[in-house]
Amino acid sequence: MDKCCWLTVERLTSKAKYEVKRGVVMSQKNILVIGGASGIGKDVVFSRANNGDTVFFTDLNKEAGESLQKQVEENGGKSVFIQHNVTSWQETKAIIDNILNNYGKIDALVHSAGITFTKSCDNLTYHDWRKTFQVNLTGLFYSIKAILPSMLKNGGGKIVIVGSGSSITGSGGGVHYAGSKGGAIGLMRAVAKEYSHQGININLIAPRVIKTPMLEELYPTKESKEQLINTIPTRKLGTLSDTTNAINFLISDESSYIQGNVLLLDGGRTYLSS
Ligand SMILES: NC(=O)c1ccc[n+]([C@@H]2O[C@H](COP(=O)([O-])OP(=O)(O)OC[C@H]3O[C@@H](n4cnc5c(N)ncnc54)[C@H](O)[C@@H]3O)[C@@H](O)[C@H]2O)c1
Repeated sequence: MDKCCWLTVERLTSKAKYEVKRGVVMSQKNILVIGGASGIGKDVVFSRANNGDTVFFTDLNKEAGESLQKQVEENGGKSVFIQHNVTSWQETKAIIDNILNNYGKIDALVHSAGITFTKSCDNLTYHDWRKTFQVNLTGLFYSIKAILPSMLKNGGGKIVIVGSGSSITGSGGGVHYAGSKGGAIGLMRAVAKEYSHQGININLIAPRVIKTPMLEELYPTKESKEQLINTIPTRKLGTLSDTTNAINFLISDESSYIQGNVLLLDGGRTYLSS
């Protein structure tokens, strides 16, 4: 290992050193995680702060965000929490501009904010539909639109969207959820087509059945969880390490030839379950 790498390793926390031993060397970056106060986003915030990155994270849930920022600090990491409603263009633009004015650049965006609830198509109201699309798709569009100019000015940047396997199979919360997450795939591919040649590297992970508060809400009882697990070829729920490892790979330099892709994280459920 050359001197430069040793210096980097010396600055890492114990968890990051462990990851280096496993061969996953993550260079230090300014990372923005949208929807970072819970579940998949929260784990990314922890992991990146452990790596010595400067992690900005936003979320609607102020209490959870402030508590996470405190936990990160206690763990020796650096993070900045900003309360944010992704459905507001003005808020999104102001937050991103503010980070850029104060910290210079954002190397990577992880967009994890999302909502889900189960309702059949005939029971779904206009309000349900509109709300889901505003958070899951319009909110995503706003954050990408707000961050693109600075990434283009810097010669590129990494974007990872947290989509959902239900956009492929149609399961999940229903037509509103699967529809909004399907839109995220189209949006991601369009951005990849428009900006690949300008250094924008964008991909989408499509998790299914990952143990998070969102899954808890959908499958609250032991029986419902057992039934669910029986539909997964690997017979286990995904963990936050599974999603964080994939996201860390996609925002690393090692993934630069992966572009406009959907990476399924589902224990084989989408294509292998009969
Ligand atoms: N858990 C799973 O199995 C699973 C499967 C497929 C997809 N996903 C997707 O992964 C992403 C993260 O989900 P999770 O499981 O970590 O759920 P989660 O509920 O733990 O996290 C979602 C976060 O988004 C935030 N949020 C919601 N509305 C917001 C708004 N208007 N503005 C800003 N923040 C807002 C919430 O406060 C929460 O912190 C979501 O987009 C979800 O659709 C999860």
